[in-house]
Amino acid sequence: KKNQKASLIEVVRWAENEFHQFLMDSPQAEAARRYLYEDRGFTDETILQFRMGYHPGGWDWLIGRAQNKFSPKQLFEARLARQRNEGEGYYDDFRQRVMFPIRNDKGDPVAFGGRILPGLANEGQPKYLNSADSEIFSKSELLYGFHVAKEAIRKSEVAVVVEGYTDAITLHQYGICNVVGTLGVALTEPHVKLLRRFARKKMVLVYDGDDAGRNATERSISQFLSHDVDLRILILPEGQDPAEYIEENGPESLQNLLDNAPEALEYKYQICRERNSDTLHGREKSLDEMLDLIRLSSNIKGTLKEDLILNRLSQRLSVNESVLRQKLVEKR
Ligand code: GTP
Ligand code: MN
Ligand code: MN
Ligand code: MN
Ligand code: MN
Repeated sequence: KKNQKASLIEVVRWAENEFHQFLMDSPQAEAARRYLYEDRGFTDETILQFRMGYHPGGWDWLIGRAQNKFSPKQLFEARLARQRNEGEGYYDDFRQRVMFPIRNDKGDPVAFGGRILPGLANEGQPKYLNSADSEIFSKSELLYGFHVAKEAIRKSEVAVVVEGYTDAITLHQYGICNVVGTLGVALTEPHVKLLRRFARKKMVLVYDGDDAGRNATERSISQFLSHDVDLRILILPEGQDPAEYIEENGPESLQNLLDNAPEALEYKYQICRERNSDTLHGREKSLDEMLDLIRLSSNIKGTLKEDLILNRLSQRLSVNESVLRQKLVEKR
């Protein structure tokens, strides 16, 4: 098993090199280089550090290069090739995409994210493609960039969590290095467990300022209540993501927002109040949503944390704390 994992990592490492060399050297990668350097503003140093690459297109570009080294079946096991629906054989999973290697917490490459180039004839294709889960890759457990961010997180005792690879990379390039990305999913229990050993002071979740980002943020909140972490939430101005924000406003401005991001519970409370009207009925609804959040958090029952939360809620909503407690018992 251990051997098999190591050999899968070797396949991914080899592919990473193929993609990377092609991006750097081939005349056919001109459009990809223009995209990364000019559109995204990445420096040479950043492109080398994150080992970005390019797949130029074609159904067996990678399979062909692997000849005499790795079989198509091995590429399949590393989630770089797919089995044909009809007939025998395999084809490249990622085609004509900028490739972002995804590394595990030790820094081994285990998967890829591939992005289409803007303006190419690839309508109908998803913008990003992530490797399917494999022996060595579990999307819901991995944090993009953890390996490079770990020291900065340990030093500052703060972890910043963003949605996308490009957000993590861009912040890193601007000198904000304690950043990891969740590959587009909400924060999971394994994520929190991995981060909290280093992010002793706090974690700041800064997802995109759009509906998808706000929804993932709300789904993430219940994860932290069960754990001993101070989660803060930063929501960026309408429609912006961290990369766009920092490009427009600079790193000091973003750092300032990160430093002052409100507690997750405050954020949730604000969201509830905005969603529900300021009527009796609306208040009751807000209260109900807040109590549901507490109910859904494991390990919190009877703790000091629960006490503090109920106390604060009772002040905010001007409701007797014992009534809140009673309601919570009924819910449970
Ligand atoms: P660009 O700046 O346009 O490159 O995208 P982004 O980095 O801002 O990413 P976006 O906010 O669109 O999505 C955040 C993350 O969600 C990405 O890094 C991906 O991991 C994931 N994601 C986005 N779009 C897709 C998609 O179409 N398919 C899949 N599987 N994942 C996606
Ligand atoms: Mn750095
Ligand atoms: Mn997004
Ligand atoms: Mn973006
Ligand atoms: Mn985004």
